[in-house]
Amino acid sequence: MIDFHSHILPVMDDGSKNTQESIAMLNSLKAQGVKRVVVTPHFYANDDSVSSFLERRQKSFEKLKAEFAEASPEIVLGAEVRYYDGISKLENLSDLCIQGTRMLLIEMPGARWTEYVLSELFNLAAYSGHTVVLAHIERYMNYQSADVFEKLLANDVLMQVNADFVTGFFSKHKALNLFRKEKLHFIGSDCHNLTTRPPEIAKAYELIGKKLGTQFLNDLIEYENEMFLL
Ligand SMILES: [Fe+2]
Repeated sequence: MIDFHSHILPVMDDGSKNTQESIAMLNSLKAQGVKRVVVTPHFYANDDSVSSFLERRQKSFEKLKAEFAEASPEIVLGAEVRYYDGISKLENLSDLCIQGTRMLLIEMPGARWTEYVLSELFNLAAYSGHTVVLAHIERYMNYQSADVFEKLLANDVLMQVNADFVTGFFSKHKALNLFRKEKLHFIGSDCHNLTTRPPEIAKAYELIGKKLGTQFLNDLIEYENEMFLL
């Protein structure tokens, strides 16, 4: 299992407040059987430059590694990049890709996306050679017309959902349906702490296995892992 979206790095954003909290979050994911966790601190181009963000991220990571030297779960450095008009022109944008991949995790505005916004996403994908992954798409679905996601999927934009969307009483039917149709690609805990936004993800994978079958679940995990080899 992969946790594709997490705020585990200490003192980077509104996530983990210190190294101890980060370690407890990592141990929780490990106990659930998570093999790889993508750490995705918020990046806001208004407040930060890519280089200073990367410097802060590296320092935070090194501090964590000094106290959590275990091999599992594997920590992969990433970022949750907030969309803004003009994002496709951001210098050094590729440096915000998930380490070792061309995948960019983008946090979208919670409003109806205009044609311009969509064209920005297509520019990122088609012209910059990035694979765009939209973070927690369940948050934006209700703002968009039905064809928007189809258009994005047709342009190879990938979709991440949070684990509580998959397990939620009112949302799981929708989530499982979308997984069945192969319109969702990654699951994240989007954990920020141990209490209000905890690192819980195994239950989502388990439910997919239970409802869509073990073969489906294995194929999903294999697909997710393969995206780190490209
Ligand atoms: Fe997040």
